[in-house]
Amino acid sequence: MFNKKMVTDLDVNGKKVIVRVDFNVPIKEGVIKDDTRITAALPTINYLLEQGAAVILMSHLGRPKTKEDLQFSLRPVAEHLATLIDAPVKFAEDCRGEVAKTAADALQPGEVLVLENTRFYPQESKNDPEMSKDLASLADLYVNDAFGSAHRAHASTAGIADHLPAAAGFLMEKEIKYLGNAIADPVRPFVAILGGAKISDKIGVIENLLKTADNILIGGGMANTFLKAQGYEMADSLVEEEVLDTAKDLLSRAFGKILLPVDMVLASAFDAEAELKTLPLCDVPAGWRVLDIGPDTAKLFAKVIADAGTVVWNGPMGVFEFPRFAVGTFEVAKAVAESQAVSIIGGGDSVSAINQSGLSEKITHISTGGGASLEMLEGLELPGLAVLNDK
Ligand code: 3PG
Repeated sequence: MFNKKMVTDLDVNGKKVIVRVDFNVPIKEGVIKDDTRITAALPTINYLLEQGAAVILMSHLGRPKTKEDLQFSLRPVAEHLATLIDAPVKFAEDCRGEVAKTAADALQPGEVLVLENTRFYPQESKNDPEMSKDLASLADLYVNDAFGSAHRAHASTAGIADHLPAAAGFLMEKEIKYLGNAIADPVRPFVAILGGAKISDKIGVIENLLKTADNILIGGGMANTFLKAQGYEMADSLVEEEVLDTAKDLLSRAFGKILLPVDMVLASAFDAEAELKTLPLCDVPAGWRVLDIGPDTAKLFAKVIADAGTVVWNGPMGVFEFPRFAVGTFEVAKAVAESQAVSIIGGGDSVSAINQSGLSEKITHISTGGGASLEMLEGLELPGLAVLNDK
């Protein structure tokens, strides 16, 4: 149950409200490639403006090393935001110090101020108390709407709540409700689909899903390590040798819950144009590597997905950036969209697969969080949520 104080529980009229958003969006040469995370924060921003608040937005962007890393500036994001809302949007070239203070002091109700990237300060990621105090000093109230960053205990997501009344935004609430319900009280059968390159990133998730899910469908590079753990030769495929024992152990405790590929698309090189062949599950011939699940696996997974009550999907089934090895991922996207199940998708590539296939309307909830949604699936507490005031 969601028991945190909401933005609607705060009296924001005439107040300055500092909102942590996750505007960590893909930008190339100053152009925003996908503004989903920005549009997802609009309900909270617009609500605050309508209620007569002055809205100060803070976010990280990428992982800059220094302030001079200007390709990580939030200025293009502020400019883009100005095209999406009906209010003046100002930009402060610093999130701390005189520049931020002067801009925040001058901000009027009904206006928005975007602060420069919080990660231009290394203190951000260290949850430095001085940095949280500086950020808090700009406003009267704090709202966290950055679900995508809620798994980070940073100065702008966690520490700041020590200094101001702290509530959740609408996006945070929506994400936690969908993912929380799926985990705590799923309509059964509960089917999890996991892909992506590595098992090592998802061991905790698989551990937790072994307790909660009815089936775990595994594709992508991570399936290779499980197949090798079962004794198959994987030739040049990506395999994480250091977690083979863990993979064996997980399989031994899965009691058939984990379903692995039954056929595979092989490539002669890691190359979009490589020679390609499809084989039933077998020892991978020398010089070849697995780059996608095969059609029989896609059919098997689609059948399990069709019978599901809840589906949660994170990670592609193959090397999705090469169109000839993206077929398995698209087949899974189609199966998830066609199923009657409550469907939740998180993580960059699976979200972009569903968007590219034009089926996103058919998904119950597309999460704006990759790492954050995985940590929820792992059953971990999210620090950026835990610090908010209880109802
Ligand atoms: C994300 O893109 O998953 C979030 O914005 C968090 O980014 P981070 O992994 O750099 O903390």
